[in-house]
Amino acid sequence: MGRLTPLHRVIASLGYVQIIGIPLGAFLFSLLLFKRRNPKVHGAPDFGNRWWWEPGLLTQSRFTFGARVLPNKYLSELRLVPPTQLSAVRAQVDNLGHKWTHTNIMTESNLHFRVIQNKLIAELPKYLDIAKDELEYAWKIEIPHSQEWQEVNVQQMIRMLVARLSAKVFMGYPACRNVEWLNLSIDFSIDMFTAAFTLRMFPPWTHPVVAHFIPARYRIKRNLKTAERIIRPLMDMHRVAAQKRAAGERVDEEDTLLNWMMDHGDEKENEPENMSTRQAILTLASIHTTSMAVANILFDLCARPEWFHVLRDEISQITNELGPIGSGPNSEAKDWLPRLEKLDSFFIESQRFNPPILLGPQRVALKSLTLKDGTYIPAGSRISWASHHHLNDPAVTPRPELFDPLRSYHRRHSSPEQMNKHLAGQTNMDNLSFGYGKLSCPGRAFSVGEIKLILARLINQFEFKFPEGKSRPLNMYADENVFPDPEGRIIMRLRQRG
Ligand code: HEM
Repeated sequence: MGRLTPLHRVIASLGYVQIIGIPLGAFLFSLLLFKRRNPKVHGAPDFGNRWWWEPGLLTQSRFTFGARVLPNKYLSELRLVPPTQLSAVRAQVDNLGHKWTHTNIMTESNLHFRVIQNKLIAELPKYLDIAKDELEYAWKIEIPHSQEWQEVNVQQMIRMLVARLSAKVFMGYPACRNVEWLNLSIDFSIDMFTAAFTLRMFPPWTHPVVAHFIPARYRIKRNLKTAERIIRPLMDMHRVAAQKRAAGERVDEEDTLLNWMMDHGDEKENEPENMSTRQAILTLASIHTTSMAVANILFDLCARPEWFHVLRDEISQITNELGPIGSGPNSEAKDWLPRLEKLDSFFIESQRFNPPILLGPQRVALKSLTLKDGTYIPAGSRISWASHHHLNDPAVTPRPELFDPLRSYHRRHSSPEQMNKHLAGQTNMDNLSFGYGKLSCPGRAFSVGEIKLILARLINQFEFKFPEGKSRPLNMYADENVFPDPEGRIIMRLRQRG
């Protein structure tokens, strides 16, 4: 054996752990040393640094696990700034891991926004009835109809119901009964959040390296391939139908959102890969948000069981007056659901205690802008509002610590001018749960309808409580996002009447 230099001797004495660990350690150390400077709004306070030289990685991780509030200002003025200057979608895409999670497609075109606004909401009564009919079918499969108490994972149960309703509206039959698509539409979001939160723990300039070590990213990729395999034949079918129709033939076809997107999309948007990625992203916007809201309401009801009676009385009253939902010309979903005023108010209060997000709306400045009072927002900066903090300010919500399910109901009934205000899904300066302005959640009215459809049925048919010795599961926080405990359980059985 030749002579070994001191360096060779050191290397020879190392095990595999050190050989891998030392370069990795050096890489992480370099992250601590080099802190990327983000554009700053002049005069905006800088929170969270413990030392002036604290590395970005540490402040970033502290934000990831412990973010709470930021100041709330300038909302009405910034609402009027066009999306070419202040972008909502850029903020969402950056939050979700942009090109590393294939969400960049949302910044390329807003077809996913337009279809919700111009088709789903424009024809809301029709789509609520479609959702109601699919719920009939899903009910028998997803809900345990037992006379005995049964323990259920609430979120899992509700997520599958919502996934079925969304699939029916977006893609129609048979995709809405395709278990592969239904599972994909749920898993896609979970993987997306996992990948995004992992990325967000690291400074953006490290993402090209870190991204390759995130298993959820590979699952996203696999699921997007599956989505394309499922959606491509649906697109082919619609193309054939459109050709026949153009040739004057009568064609029976479901009026799905996918078909509308094809008819209104350009060539690029109509590429199967592009379209299926967008469909998967739409499941992300629509399924988890809605099912988390239903789960939270059920948890809040189990924590205050006296409210089950109040809501059941309301349901009985409407049923006596209009008949069961969907049973006649006066009982269509569009007429029936708005009558659930107390449930509506309960939802708003539940959302105040369990917001989906602490900071909203969020925007990224694509161009620099100066506000009326001289505040300068440089291009590239991210701004948001402390929506949760603001809503819980006693000046906005008196005695905010009190869970008062009829708070909004009483506000509405306080005078005739207030009757059309304080409704679930409405956005205003004091309630930013669905965002604000032209870019606020386009799907919120559909979502409120779905939530009421599901809950009215559950509350009317079943009894719920927490398992022996258990209480309301605590919410979990990841950055500014709030989630109900994914393991949260309740027990349920068919209502014992008589
Ligand atoms: C309780 C349920 C839901 C909540 C809490 C919720 C909340 C939000 C929020 C806070 C935003 C951002 C708004 C802003 O920046 O001003 C948003 C955007 C959006 N939501 Fe919802 N949402 C819900 C349900 C739905 C449903 C059911 C759909 C579809 C049917 C949907 C589709 C969208 C879309 C397409 C966007 C815009 C994404 C973009 O900017 O490109 N949401 N939602």
